[in-house]
Amino acid sequence: MPSAIALSNASRITRRLRNCDACRRWMVYRCFSQFIGLRDIEIDGKKYATDEWTNTPSSIVSSVPRRLHLQKDHPISITRQLIESRFPGYRTHNTLFPVVTVNQNFDSLGFPPDHPGRNKTDTYYVNKDTVLRTHTSAHQADVFRGNTSDGFLISADVYRRDAIDRSHYPVFHQMEGARTWDRSIIQDSKELVRKIWDDVAQLPQHELNVSDPNPPIHPERNPLQSKHHMAEEAEAIAAHLKRSLENVVVEIFAQAQKAQQAAGQEISEEPLQVRWVEAYFPFTSPSWELEVFWQGDWLEVLGCGVVKQDLLINAGVPSRVGWAFGMGLERIAMLLFSVPDIRLFWSQDPRFSSQFTSPFPHDPSSTIAAAAPSSFSIKPFTPFSKYPAAPRDVAFWLPSTSSSAGGRLPTASSVHENDVMELVREVAGSDVEDVRLVDEFTHPKTGRKSLCYRVVYRSLERTLTNEEANGLHDSIRKALVEKLGVELR
Ligand code: DAH
Repeated sequence: MPSAIALSNASRITRRLRNCDACRRWMVYRCFSQFIGLRDIEIDGKKYATDEWTNTPSSIVSSVPRRLHLQKDHPISITRQLIESRFPGYRTHNTLFPVVTVNQNFDSLGFPPDHPGRNKTDTYYVNKDTVLRTHTSAHQADVFRGNTSDGFLISADVYRRDAIDRSHYPVFHQMEGARTWDRSIIQDSKELVRKIWDDVAQLPQHELNVSDPNPPIHPERNPLQSKHHMAEEAEAIAAHLKRSLENVVVEIFAQAQKAQQAAGQEISEEPLQVRWVEAYFPFTSPSWELEVFWQGDWLEVLGCGVVKQDLLINAGVPSRVGWAFGMGLERIAMLLFSVPDIRLFWSQDPRFSSQFTSPFPHDPSSTIAAAAPSSFSIKPFTPFSKYPAAPRDVAFWLPSTSSSAGGRLPTASSVHENDVMELVREVAGSDVEDVRLVDEFTHPKTGRKSLCYRVVYRSLERTLTNEEANGLHDSIRKALVEKLGVELR
C-alpha cells in the first residue's frame, strides 16, 4: 500500500507537470513519439530517449560492451598498457561511459557551432543533446574538474561515422593524456618555469633524432595564449610535452622493430625518423602533431598542445596550466603486432585472439599507470590463410534535387558518402573489407549525377561463396534504393 505521503507527493508532482509548459510539451512529445514509433534506445543497460537526431544503429550499440582496451591479452589492451608504462604515476581513467553530452564532446572543448565534426554525417547522435563520444577529449574537462592528479591518461572506445577500408572502423580506441602544474602552490611565474624545466630534466633521455624546425610559438600559425601564459611558461610546457611523447614513440617503435626482427621479418637499417609539425585543435594553443616515418610513409601518431586556459577555467581549475595529447590505439597496435586489417581486432576467432599474451598484469580496474616489466617482447600476428576477395560494383543515380514526391525524397546533397558506408556495414557487417568510389559522372543534359562504388567482400574467417556475396550485394542494392532514394543503373 502506498503511504498517504507518497500519494500526496505523486499528485503534487502530476499537478506540477501539468502546470509547467516545458513538462507539458515533454508529455505531448512522449505520447507523439510513441505513436509514430520513436522509442528509447538502450546502450549498455542505460535508456535514452530518441528524437529526429538519432542515427546510432544497433550494430554500433552492440559493440559498446566489448571494450577491447580492457580485454585480457587483446592487442589494443597491450598497446594501452605499453603506452601507460611510459607515464609512471599518472592516474588512469579507463572505464568512462561512451555516451556523453554534446557539451562534453564539443562545447566544453571550444568547438565552434558550425564545426563539421558536429554533423550527423560524422557523429553518432543518441539524440539531439547526446552522442557517442567521438574522441577521448570529451572527458578532459570533467577529469580536470575532478582535480585528483597532476597527470592523467584516459583510454576508451570512440565512435565516428567514416569510410570503410582496412584501417578505418566506426568504433576505435584512443588514449588521451594530460599533465598540469598548479600555479597556486608556486610563488611566481619564474619559479613555475624553473619547476617545469626541473621536471623535464627528470624525464628519461632518448637518442632519437627528432626534426622540429618550427619555433614553439608562432604569432599567426601557432599562437601563444598571451592573455594567460608567458612565452617562457608555454615553452617549458611544450618541452615537457615533446620529451614525454618522444619517449612513447621511442618505446613503441623499438618494440615494433624488435618484434619484426624476432619474427624474421626484414627491417630497415635506417634510424627512426620522427618530426613535429604545427597543427590546430580548438582546445590547445600552440598545437602540434607528431609524425613517424614508417614503411615508406609519414604516419601521424598523435595530436597535442598547450591546453586552452579557458577550458581549465571553465573546469574550475583556473590556477592549473599544462599540456594534453590524444592518440589512436588501433594504428599503433597494427604496426606493433603487424595486424593488416583493423577488423581483426573485433574478431572472436581463437586463431586471432589466442596469438597474443600481455607482458603486463591484467588489472582493468587499476587507476595508476604501471611500469613495464624489465624485459619482454611482442610477438607479431601470424596471418591465418587469407580468404578470397569478392568485388562487386554498384552504380546509381543520386536523387534529383526536386522530386515529384513533393520533395520528400532525399536531395542530391543529402546523400553523404558516410551514409553509403553505413548502409553497407549495416547489411554486410564485417564481411566487407573496402568500399571505394570508382566512377563519378554528371549527365550533360539532365545534370543528374551518377556514382559507382566498388564493394570488396571478404570474410576474415572463411571463404564467402558466390551466392553469399551476390546475396549481400543484392541486399545492399535494395537498401540503397529504399533508404537513400537512389535509382540503380
Ligand atoms: N581529440 C583529438 C582527435 O581526436 C586528438 C587530440 C589532439 C587530443 C590534441 C588532445 C590534443 O588532447 O591536445 O583528433
